[in-house]
Amino acid sequence: MKLSWSDVTPKADWLSRRGFVAACTAFAASPALALTARPSRFSTDQAPNTLEEITNYNNFYEFGTGKEDPARHAGALTTDPWSVEIGGMVERPGSYAVEDLAPENALEERIYRLRCVEAWSMVIPWIGVPLASVLEKAGVRPSAKYVAFETLFRPDEMPGQTRPILDWPYREGLRLDEAMHPLTILATGLYSDPLPNQNGAPIRLVVPWKYGFKSIKSIVKITLTDKQPLATWNALQPSEYGFYANVNPEVNHPRWSQATERRIGAGLFAGRDRTLMFNGYAEQVASMYAGMDLAKHY
Ligand code: MTE
Repeated sequence: MKLSWSDVTPKADWLSRRGFVAACTAFAASPALALTARPSRFSTDQAPNTLEEITNYNNFYEFGTGKEDPARHAGALTTDPWSVEIGGMVERPGSYAVEDLAPENALEERIYRLRCVEAWSMVIPWIGVPLASVLEKAGVRPSAKYVAFETLFRPDEMPGQTRPILDWPYREGLRLDEAMHPLTILATGLYSDPLPNQNGAPIRLVVPWKYGFKSIKSIVKITLTDKQPLATWNALQPSEYGFYANVNPEVNHPRWSQATERRIGAGLFAGRDRTLMFNGYAEQVASMYAGMDLAKHY
């Protein structure tokens, strides 16, 4: 059996102490209620990055392009109430509350590797639900072939959106089989707490075998369609960022090698890790791309 994060990090001690203290002081205001999530066989047994690392080294251009900008500015984002509009080729289109899409009794912990296209990586203990379970709630019509996602557009609270850094709102897409794959989740928490804003609160996609830019944050819209959806980075620079964006050490980015990666938090002298095909998830996902030229469909 794979370990749950609580077996491998000292945060467990802190959390159980906190739980004890909370029980003793019933009137004390708690900033965030701890989430309970089942461990999953899909989790890696690699040690997760610290909460400090996961929440202070981010890409979330809606809050600026610096790695520390999201931690600095994302606190201003209002994430409650929040609903996700699910539409297109579905039986039950409508506005779904996050609590209904990811009810507490369905939450799973998924400790996944995250590999950014910029050649750094982390291990993150996400909490969430399979995207497939969410799509089943809306009822996917047989005509649907792709799933399109959109991030919130709210320049008042997302200062990056007042500048033409990207073609806002941030958009992404998956083929339907990728979206329905059991590894693909919508995360609503990490390290047993609700998702910090800088990581894409209150609900974000996580597709662990693809470069991190596919894992779109703070989702407000999901659309089932029969056409390949527009994806922000792909549309901006198609020669550098493919629609598939599967992690592949043999297909380099035009401006840098993808053969190795720098593990955040590993220390200055740690050396680089070898990047694995499909970020180490080949056994589970390679069959979806059988017969495809992955140098062409990068
Ligand atoms: N989603 C939105 N809306 N905006 C972004 O700028 N950055 C992507 C992805 N999702 C991004 C986004 C990139 S490049 C990466 S590597 C991951 O989020 C980073 O996720 P993390 O900050 O939670 O580690």
